[in-house]
Amino acid sequence: MRFAHVSDFHFTHLTWNPLRLLSKRLLGNLNWLLMRSGSLAEEPVLALPQLFKELGVDLVLLGGDFTTTSLKEEFLKAVAFVQKIESPWLAIPGNHDHYTGKSFREKHYYRYLTNVQKPSLGPFTLKEDGLEAHRIADGWWVVALDTSVARGLTSSRGLFSEVLEGNLDKVLQLIPRTESVIVLNHYPFFQHDHHSRTLERSEALEQLLKKHSHARMYLHGHTHSHILADLQKNQLPLVLDSGSCAQVSKASWNLIDLDETGCTVHVYGWKEGWKKQRTEKVTWNL
Ligand SMILES: [Fe+2]
Ligand SMILES: [Fe+2]
Repeated sequence: MRFAHVSDFHFTHLTWNPLRLLSKRLLGNLNWLLMRSGSLAEEPVLALPQLFKELGVDLVLLGGDFTTTSLKEEFLKAVAFVQKIESPWLAIPGNHDHYTGKSFREKHYYRYLTNVQKPSLGPFTLKEDGLEAHRIADGWWVVALDTSVARGLTSSRGLFSEVLEGNLDKVLQLIPRTESVIVLNHYPFFQHDHHSRTLERSEALEQLLKKHSHARMYLHGHTHSHILADLQKNQLPLVLDSGSCAQVSKASWNLIDLDETGCTVHVYGWKEGWKKQRTEKVTWNL
């Protein structure tokens, strides 16, 4: 099984319509203009669907932050992008996709990017319950989480709620321990970032991952920095941060080949085109 993990697309549409700027969006636009407009680009993102096809990708996992301020025009750019992906894909929202209080309350993200495949297990859906489980291959599952919430002006914190903790515990109990789980979330569960950008109650998520040792991989984005951390010795999963595929100076994503003994991670970086930068092999501690 060969899959791609790619995240933090940040499609942008600037608006100066005052009615649409009566929200955190004004700050988001200014932040984009002052800090991000030179560092984020659509070109690397738009090159991905054709590359996925050439590389024979079976499944694409899309890790959130499709938009910058949850504007309809940004979501429509994201929809046009995912429609070009020929393989099946599964997506989760990031904090920029629930950016304003209104877009979060009314779940605007799910008008555009609800997963096509029905969840394979239980009644849970991302939109209603914040998680869904998909069987992606013999013995392999993806459990996708939505831990993004709208916050105040200067915060991008996520939340792993007590309800979500209970539901994730149930789902991981239902998946046989002889099978393996990939957890897909926007936020990392370990705290190495400024407090205002981290996941609230991440310790509870970490404890749950420790308890369910068949959660072999934990994929996230949000930090815009590539990370590969094999935490199996600490009874935790292999952690992969894909980085952002749009942040031109350090754009990255991962191509991952799974087998029974482990996985091979091919790290792609952007330099006037996507190039494979390195390959790492990880063996499962069974
Ligand atoms: Fe992001
Ligand atoms: Fe994010």
